[in-house]
Amino acid sequence: MALLEVESLSVRYGHVDALVEVSLGAEEGMITAVLGANGAGKTTLLRAATGLVRPRLGEVRFDGKVISGRRPEEVVRCGVAHVPEGRGVIGELTVEENLRLGSLWRRRGERNMDGAYELFPILGERRRQAAATLSGGERQALALARALLARPRALLLDEPSLGLAPLVTSQLMARLVTLTVEEGLTVVLVEQNARTALSIAGRAVVLNLGRVVVDDEAATVAADAQLRHHYLGF
Ligand SMILES: Nc1ncnc2c1ncn2[C@@H]1O[C@H](COP(=O)(O)OP(=O)(O)OP(=O)(O)O)[C@@H](O)[C@H]1O
Ligand SMILES: [Mg+2]
Repeated sequence: MALLEVESLSVRYGHVDALVEVSLGAEEGMITAVLGANGAGKTTLLRAATGLVRPRLGEVRFDGKVISGRRPEEVVRCGVAHVPEGRGVIGELTVEENLRLGSLWRRRGERNMDGAYELFPILGERRRQAAATLSGGERQALALARALLARPRALLLDEPSLGLAPLVTSQLMARLVTLTVEEGLTVVLVEQNARTALSIAGRAVVLNLGRVVVDDEAATVAADAQLRHHYLGF
């Protein structure tokens, strides 16, 4: 059984069907990439999983418990953290204040802030700086560190590489791999950067116009030139 299960999930905004009967599973300790063109429904999928939009039909379960339709803070308490598109850090607050918010949301135990600074040393150097003045890569590191302070079992990331230099992106992806391997973290990785996502994911799901068109091992998807050209643009 997958740790995070999406079953026949449908979301509609007014007359727009953003998701139509989407089913997928994210295995524990693995990276599952969710790929697809602009407007495919990737962000909607994460928002439905974390209580930010209510599905019309279907559900999302985490560790067997239904989390769709619950309040976002309840979902966090269940062990699911979400780093939204645009990263969701609070610009007016300093790095340290943003991190303190993250540890307020934690579910169990103490992950002290030193852990965050160890994971991303640059944040320690910038700790008194307002988040709004960080570089894109630094802000992404802060969003990720803050989500990890809640000690999630599953981390849902919406386009974490957006706006990052290739080197910073590959460092970030390497961090994700380490977290899955060493801490058993389960990651759902929404990415436009399909090539990079496929290189670290175990499984890949491709959405097109709100429907799942591919659900397979990431290596298989990466090796399928026709599929790549058709849906992933590389
Ligand atoms: N709040 C909203 N109201 C109306 N339509 C919306 C809303 N949010 C998303 N949509 C529509 O739902 C569809 C899916 O959007 P979504 O943001 O999930 O796509 P996405 O795959 O994340 O795209 P991108 O790669 O551009 O981020 C799009 O057609 C979008 O215009
Ligand atoms: Mg999106």
